[in-house]
Amino acid sequence: MSAKLINGKEIREDILEELGRETLALKEKTGKVPGLVTILVGENPASISYVTSKIKTAKSLGFKEVQDTQSIDISEVDLLSLVDKYNHDDTINGILVQLPLPSHIDEKKVLNAIDPDKDVDGFHPVNVGRLMIGGDEVKFPPCTPAGIMELIVRAGVETEGAEAVVVGRSNIVGKPIANMLVQKGPGANATVTIVHTRTKNLADHCRRADILVVAAGVPDLVKPEWIKPGACVIDVGVNRVGEKISEKTGRKIALLKGDVDFDKAKEIAGFITPVPGGVGPMTITMLMRNTLNSFKYSNNIPV
Ligand code: GUN
Repeated sequence: MSAKLINGKEIREDILEELGRETLALKEKTGKVPGLVTILVGENPASISYVTSKIKTAKSLGFKEVQDTQSIDISEVDLLSLVDKYNHDDTINGILVQLPLPSHIDEKKVLNAIDPDKDVDGFHPVNVGRLMIGGDEVKFPPCTPAGIMELIVRAGVETEGAEAVVVGRSNIVGKPIANMLVQKGPGANATVTIVHTRTKNLADHCRRADILVVAAGVPDLVKPEWIKPGACVIDVGVNRVGEKISEKTGRKIALLKGDVDFDKAKEIAGFITPVPGGVGPMTITMLMRNTLNSFKYSNNIPV
């Protein structure tokens, strides 16, 4: 393997340690801790698994963690008033409504009802706008793109003047990561192209990329010959392609594959993230950082 492996699990542990230390120091200083509520509607197994990890991580940092599980039948009106309750709860700094929501509920309406100053997912239009402006306007960068930026910076990848190509234009990953890479400032200043399903000559664009971020949701979409030798390849894809038996627990677990043909790509790229263990571990970590920052904003502590 010639590429340097960007190990999201290791970077996660470093950041969580930093956040844990800071939480303890803030508790000593203010007598309070950051509070996060996770609202889960229904029993979608993937959502339960995500929320369980979020709760576990928040607790491990010493946050106040409220798990609010609601029946799949909850009405939109009742969910909106639940969000409003937490908007007015001074012990709660971050509100996370786990997606997807059942089809009878308008997801956009619910996300837009979250107080933008508690929107630690960074999905509210006010926070999307703040991200677009950049600099010190940004309060809550969305968690997956924020995690990608952290991986790029901590791995020592040069972004200044780099050609960055983002594959995928979702609101959660593609658009915000492109926006972050193009901003002024260290760890950014890249020249960014977004490519998507209607782009002509996808391969040609990818071949130009010094930094290639792939968030398409298509297993093995990016072929090894599309990768510029020495490029930094960030694979955001988490595609379930089957099942395997866990070596640790002996139980069946999902077999995951990224959007990049990792085994071949790692021989060409300069840096590469694995799937699993690359971008994945960073999302919850950045949620914790946003929650801690929200606590700081509301207590007038510099971030
Ligand atoms: N469902 C899957 N990923 C996410 C996420 O990052 N935030 C929320 N709220 N729901 C999700």
